[in-house]
Amino acid sequence: MNKKHILSPEEILAQKTYIEQMRRENDAYAAQTGKRRGAFVMTFGCQQNEADSEKIAGMAKSMGYSLVTDPECADLIMVNTCAIREHAEQKALSIIVKYKHIKAKNPDLVIGVCGCMVAQEHRKNDIKFRYPYVDFVFGTASLHRFPQLLCQKLEKGKRLYCPEETEYTVAEDLPIHRESDYRAWVSIMYGCNNFCSYCIVPYVRGRERSREMHKIVEEVQGLVRDGYKDITLLGQNVNSYAKDSGFPYDFADLLRELDKIEGDYVLRFMTSHPKDADRKLIDVMADSGHIAHQFHLPMQSGSDRILSLMNRKYDTAKYLDIVDYMRKKMPDVTLTSDIIVGFPGETEEDFEGTMRMLETVRFDMLYSFIYSPRKGTPAAEMEQVPQAVKSQRFERLLELQGRIGKEKNDLLVGKTLRVLCDGVSKNNSELYSGRTEGNKIAFFEGDVEDAGKFVNITVKRADAFALYGEKI
Ligand code: 5AD
Ligand code: SF4
Repeated sequence: MNKKHILSPEEILAQKTYIEQMRRENDAYAAQTGKRRGAFVMTFGCQQNEADSEKIAGMAKSMGYSLVTDPECADLIMVNTCAIREHAEQKALSIIVKYKHIKAKNPDLVIGVCGCMVAQEHRKNDIKFRYPYVDFVFGTASLHRFPQLLCQKLEKGKRLYCPEETEYTVAEDLPIHRESDYRAWVSIMYGCNNFCSYCIVPYVRGRERSREMHKIVEEVQGLVRDGYKDITLLGQNVNSYAKDSGFPYDFADLLRELDKIEGDYVLRFMTSHPKDADRKLIDVMADSGHIAHQFHLPMQSGSDRILSLMNRKYDTAKYLDIVDYMRKKMPDVTLTSDIIVGFPGETEEDFEGTMRMLETVRFDMLYSFIYSPRKGTPAAEMEQVPQAVKSQRFERLLELQGRIGKEKNDLLVGKTLRVLCDGVSKNNSELYSGRTEGNKIAFFEGDVEDAGKFVNITVKRADAFALYGEKI
């Protein structure tokens, strides 16, 4: 069994020493001024990044910062960046510019930038030369070093650029500040080995490495004990959990073990890769008591030629085979997917293949993206599809999925569903919103006490993206 990728307790202890040092300083400052220093964490990107930000916030809190929701009130701003598409990087860079103005008013403000974008050397250099008010920068591999880097920055007063770690590791037992007290993320593995030709993730998050099963079980047990109702296991490709480390179990075994934990909660996971989604996993889901009948299975394209250029290692026949088996074992399963439109070399015929697959599979919901070239990936060097063609295909895809999504949701009208309520809707203050077991958004007339609890609703109407119901 290979456990070399797990950071030693001594290294974690070293970070805890920095945490203590900062805590003493921040406590002394609070005692002197009557005001506690504030930390603000801004997050871009996927759930994995949100989970990482909860660790940054957890460490900041342990260091004696109070967490603030307004960057104007902060003494420390951390920007956790994403690199998946150009747009995500541009958003992070433009918010960093905004923080420059806050620093102009408060020169003691410390700004740190971390995450996937700055795990790329060229972006780290951009920050170094074009954003001089950023105080320290570190990539995903150095997340656990945040206390040390902050201490060093404050002691030396100089800007600090953490060199990329020589190894990507798993850091256990870091403090976590969870955003919600009823929904939780649990990272079960980090990194990716797949090198899909369009994707930057393997370059910015390193190779796959898994947490030991007993650590995950302990974490989930703790969450259930604390009243968490909806727990999502996270990894770039959860289906290959444990394979990298030679652990004597696999993802289906982990799910089976977690499902034994008693309590009223729902377990989910993301993201799956069709090349590794096997029948054993589907059987465990179908037989379980807690695992949601929900599957996010990115298809990316419905053209075998493009799938091969994408280095996805499955074809549409294999994809359909998994879907058939899944629906046979769980007829009520909610199936969602990711699609990239305008991958280099995508012809009209390839795109029509994708549209046909949408008609055949009939996904409940799609996350669709216009292909964005990522520096250093093979697809960025291939012949690109013109922007106008990409946009036009994207619109056609959205239109088709809009119709299918509405038809699928209409099938739920009249049904009674259990919904985990998130409180008053952000878009319509007269309604409450929540998520069904299939993770669909549902709106209904609720009560203050419903927030964070399961309620049953009867679905009265639906559109492509949401259900509208009456609480029972
Ligand atoms: N351009 C557009 N979409 C991308 N994705 C990953 N890389 C790119 C890219 N370069 C999409 C994939 C993946 C999702 C998280 O983001 O569909 O599944
Ligand atoms: Fe990117 Fe492919 Fe890995 Fe997903 S499986 S993170 S798309 S390289």
